Amino acid sequence: MNKRKRKAVIAGNWKMNMTPDEASAMISELRELVKGKRGCEIVLCVPAIDIPAAVKAAKGSRIKIGAENVHFEEKGAFTGEISAKMLTSSGVEYVIVGHSERRQYFGETDETVNRRVKAALNAGLKVILCVGEVLAQRDLGITAEVLKMQTKIALNGVPAEQLENLIIAYEPVWAIGTGRVATPEQADEGNGFVRSAVEELYGKKAAEALTVQYGGSMNEKNASDLLGKVNVDGGLIGGASLVASKFAAIVDAAQ
Ligand code: 13P
Repeated sequence: MNKRKRKAVIAGNWKMNMTPDEASAMISELRELVKGKRGCEIVLCVPAIDIPAAVKAAKGSRIKIGAENVHFEEKGAFTGEISAKMLTSSGVEYVIVGHSERRQYFGETDETVNRRVKAALNAGLKVILCVGEVLAQRDLGITAEVLKMQTKIALNGVPAEQLENLIIAYEPVWAIGTGRVATPEQADEGNGFVRSAVEELYGKKAAEALTVQYGGSMNEKNASDLLGKVNVDGGLIGGASLVASKFAAIVDAAQ
């Protein structure tokens, strides 16, 4: 398998952190630190309210801006929600779908994840689809089954031509925000389960071309070991994406 053929993508997920002013300041600092770092795509997924400031601060740099969620309907009576068109018309290129915090706290299911994935891809957004097992599932020995099920339901009805706009992030829930990072071997294995689910749906060539990220307590210290694994094509980074120097160090590790 030739990892070099795949696009490496280092993406930050700010979650519910940073005001618009803080977003501008962080991105202004980051854009200088990542100048000329062409070895990977660089993305920051930011809270909706930060999008205009983030897009402005990133303009003319290699940093792309993403959102953290998107609704599956085009428009209508969905108080508090944001549509794919609202995102694209605001300069957003990426969107995270199915993050475990959305699944855990906001009633996201595999079916709603699937609807959001399709709406976002149809609107021309690049999707970072998150999948991951909780600790009880890992302890039961059903990690592979969980990852394959989440991946297959999320991609139900997605045509092969749209896979070029899809990234999947394997994020073991027990590793998120806990400081308990997966070992490089566990990350490689989990990413491999995701890739084989994609192979079962779309064939080997499509699976080998897909960018699969690892996420969960990735930081400037452990990034190069994780990114060195054959199935790990990038990272989705929470805490360490809030500090320009730390995030830039992870971008460096991906070069
Ligand atoms: P942490 O890097 O803070 O563990 O968060 C990972 C994550 O959830 C990224 O989406």
